Formats: sequence, structure tokens, C-alpha cells
Amino acid sequence: MNNNTMYANASHVNHGFQHEERRPPPYAPSSGLYPALPQYHGHQNVASQYQIASPSYPSERYPTAQTQNLHHYTPQTASVNTHHTTTPASHYSSPPVHKGSKKKTCTCITIAIITLLIIAGVIAALLWYFGVFSCNGRQCKADNICVSHSQWCDGVQDCPSGEDEAQCFRLYGSNFLLQKYSNESRNWELVCSDGWNDELAKQACEQIGYPRNTYAGYSVISSRASSNSVMVMADSLSSNPNITTQSFLTKGTTCASNTLVTLKCIDCGKNIGSRIVGGTTVTSKGVWPWQVSLQISRNHVCGGSIITPYWILTAAHCVEKYSNPRQWTVFAGYLTQSEMKYATGNSVSQIVKNNFDSTTNENDVALMKLNSPLRMTSNVRPVCLPNVGMYFSAPRNCYITGWGALSFQGSGSETLQEAKIQLIDRTTCNNYQVYNGLITNTMICAGKLAGGVDSCQGDSGGPLVTQENSLWWLVGDTSWGEGCAFRNKPGVYGNVTYFLDWIYQQMQKY
Ligand code: ARG
Repeated sequence: MNNNTMYANASHVNHGFQHEERRPPPYAPSSGLYPALPQYHGHQNVASQYQIASPSYPSERYPTAQTQNLHHYTPQTASVNTHHTTTPASHYSSPPVHKGSKKKTCTCITIAIITLLIIAGVIAALLWYFGVFSCNGRQCKADNICVSHSQWCDGVQDCPSGEDEAQCFRLYGSNFLLQKYSNESRNWELVCSDGWNDELAKQACEQIGYPRNTYAGYSVISSRASSNSVMVMADSLSSNPNITTQSFLTKGTTCASNTLVTLKCIDCGKNIGSRIVGGTTVTSKGVWPWQVSLQISRNHVCGGSIITPYWILTAAHCVEKYSNPRQWTVFAGYLTQSEMKYATGNSVSQIVKNNFDSTTNENDVALMKLNSPLRMTSNVRPVCLPNVGMYFSAPRNCYITGWGALSFQGSGSETLQEAKIQLIDRTTCNNYQVYNGLITNTMICAGKLAGGVDSCQGDSGGPLVTQENSLWWLVGDTSWGEGCAFRNKPGVYGNVTYFLDWIYQQMQKY
């Protein structure tokens, strides 16, 4: 975290991501875009100008955690049974063959074979074409199977890998309206609360990707748009209370109560303590209870955010090189690095990395699954993942937090730092004076174009959050930037809204 207005009193050696590049000192005029950036002159390698995320550990300090297992294989002699067949020498001379006709026969056979092959090829191509393109429904992604539209989200698994039933529920907007995919309207529809209950709610949460035990309840809100189609309880439900799939909801137009289901699969986004706005050193625990320190050999490497008791969201570049879950320890509920020195922390069982591209920094998000769940307290709590339909736009106020460097190439912070920054729209951020087209849909820019306040090395993976509807939402994960807190070089964050489907898919899978 870099905030030129204040410094933490103590600092520790920053093991976060370092960047070798020399840059002019941060210069922070009042505001606006500043042309004429001398930094760009004479650079051969554009990528090298950016703080591309690569952990700066001297490799010898971090030998790979697994010691190589030397398997001693007993050499086995492969016995190949060679049968020597002796062809008896022919005592008879073959009947005379007319040389010309032999050639003709050969040509004919070759032509016939080629023709047959062509015909077979055409048939195969036609079959494939009609298999793929004549699918009058939806293609299962993993397999080449065609499933009719009406079979999608009907509660019966038709795709061998189950994707027809995998993402049938989602949460919409900042009040968590439940939506179900309707195979009739082929659209997402709100759910009428008539006949709804906690059991159905838990099932819906499980299908979204949350564990059953984080379920925090459902409530209802009155719907103004009662004429709109909604998903209503199937009649069969009253006669069969043991329905275990989404088959209980069908499309309807009447919702007697005129109320819709809003669903909390986890009690997220709440914090405690009054924050000193504009301050930098976080003074009490529980203000940013989702912030974790991700460490290797008791050294802080990256930040992360708690999204469920089992899952930490971080940056993919943090785990690029250190992809072995056993290398990592997660510390939750602490303010200072010294407290963590003697704490136990949580071990990691699984690391899932999105399709990260280290040259462009595309898709810089990863998930860590813990071996045992975090115990939720007022200092250890999840942040809310954004819901579909939530758009965070510039110049929305956000907060970044972390133990990263206090200045460019400086040392990491002993105490958790926070800074208030604003979202910057992609067009502005892609301006040639800023990041000149490097910002894609998987990224969000946030900071101050004037410079002076930014995240920095070691903050990576940590949260960029905003408050909405009195809850805190995870807008981004700290990813990259040119230098730290330079004018026109704001921080770049992974766009969490963009990754939602991927995140839920992983939480369902592991
Ligand atoms: N890549 C850095 C890390 O690994 C984060 C850099 C953020 N930079 C910035 N200027 N906002 O810690």
C-alpha cells in the first residue's frame, strides 16, 4: 500500500513482488491526465516496463517443498516372445503373370480404395456436421452430446458431465434476488416465494456452489413486476416434499403473494468498527475481516480475500511459480505481521488458477481451498462476491488493503494498511497516456490518476472492495501496475464480476 501522506512506524522486509525498473520519483500534481511521459522513451521491451508479477524470492531460500521421491524401480526384462516362422522355400515357380494386366489391377484397386476413403470421409463429415449443427437444443460442452432445450435445468442430468444442471441458479443485484434459468423462456427468471422454504433455499445455495452449512437464510421482497413471468413452485411439490432437484420450479405468470425470494447463501460483507476515513494504518481488527496474508515459510507473499470458510480468492500471478498448495499458509484475523510470526495459520489443500496469461496479465485470479475451514469470528469473515447485474462504475469509491510495500521498491508494511481510491473507467485507463490499450475486460483500474495513493508490491491478490446496500463487495483483486502511485499509472485489479462463473464452477467442483 502506498500512500504518500502517511507511513507506518514499523516495516518488515518486503517479500512481495518486486520490480527492478528504475522510474522517476512519484510526482503527484493535483489531478487529470498528464501527457508527455518520459518513462516510455527508449524502451525496447514494453512488457518489462510493467511490474509483472513475479515473486521476488531468491530461489535458494525456497526450495520446492516436496523433496523428490526417488522411486527405485526394479528393472524388469521385458520378455518379448519372438516366434520365428520359417517360410518354406517354394519349390514351384509361380505361374506366369501378364505384367501389363497386373499394373492395371493395381491401379484399379488403388482408385477404388481412394474413392471409398473419400466417400467415408464425406459421410463422416456430414454426420459430424449434423451432429453439431443440427442440435436443436444445447450442446453439452465437454461431450458432443445434444440435449434439448427443455432438458436444460429440469432437474435431470442429461449431459454426461452434468453441465445442463450445473448453473441453474444465480443471485441477482445487491439484494440477492434468486433467479433460476427457465428452459421455457430460455432466460433467467425471478423466483416467487409461494411455497418456498429453507430446505429448498439450501439446495439452491448448494447448487450455486456454497456449502450447506454457510446458509444464512432467505427473505422475501414484494415484486412490483408481478405481470412478469416468474418461476413458481410446481404442483408436484405439494404431493412430494422430498424433491431434491431444481425440478420443483417451473415457469408461471401468477405469484399469489407477489413476493420474490432473496437468498443469502453466506453471511458476507459485514465488518465492525468505525474506520478512520483517509487514515492509512488500520487500527482495529474486524474492519477488513476478509483480508488474509498468504505466506510461504512465514514470509508474507500476497494478500487474499475470504469468500467462504473454505475458499480464499487471490491473484493467479501469486501462485504461478508457487503452485504447490503445501508451500502456502493462510493467516486470517491479524493486523500485524509480527502477530503472525507465532500464529499457526491454515494449510491449503488445493490451488485453482484461472487461465492466467503472464505476458498480458489477463485473468489474474486464483482460488485457494483450505484443508480445514476458517472459524468465523468478528475478525474473520467473508466478503460478498458481486452478484449478477451489479455494475461498479467510475468514479465509485473503493478501498484497498494490504501489507505491501509502502513506496515503490520500498519495504512491506508491518501493519495492515488501507487506502481509499476510486474506480477509473476502462476507456480512460486505456488512454495512451495511461495504459495505452493494455486494460482488458478481465481487469479494472482503480486509484488516483494524480498519483500518490496506490497498492504496491506485496498487496497482490488482496481485496479491492466497495460498500453497497450496507455490505462490502469484492470488486477486484490486486494485480499489477507500473511502479506504484505514479501519476497516470493507477493500480490494475482482476475484475471479479467477470470471473463469477469461473469462481462458482470451481467452488462446485472441489
Ligand atoms: N504485482 C504486485 C504484487 O504482486 C501488485 C502491484 C500493484 N501495483 C500497483 N501499482 N497498484 O504485489
